[in-house]
Amino acid sequence: MTTMKINSPLSIKTHQVTLIKPDGEKVILNVKENEYISDVAIANGINLPLSCNAGICVTCAAKLLEGTIIHDHTFLKPEEEAAGFLLTCRTFVTSDCVILTHQEDALLDF
Ligand code: FES
Repeated sequence: MTTMKINSPLSIKTHQVTLIKPDGEKVILNVKENEYISDVAIANGINLPLSCNAGICVTCAAKLLEGTIIHDHTFLKPEEEAAGFLLTCRTFVTSDCVILTHQEDALLDF
């Protein structure tokens, strides 16, 4: 007999996401696997760079230092994703993560 896992609200996990700003300030958020990082940051009064909120402009670019994520967009190149870049407005976390914010210039220079 096969057991099927249903992704009901009761089975959605929450992970601890540590955001590190360029000045070294750390902010810890609890982010569910079906929530975008920037949405949770905004809901908690955290001021992150954000513009299109659609995975297109890269204003919200950040870099994954630890953890695992899912990119819910196709904007970044595979080599940019491999280097850890992500878009906070269109990224789901799948584990506890440490993320360096404010990486738009670094992405554009990559
Ligand atoms: S805000 Fe434009 S890509 Fe995230």
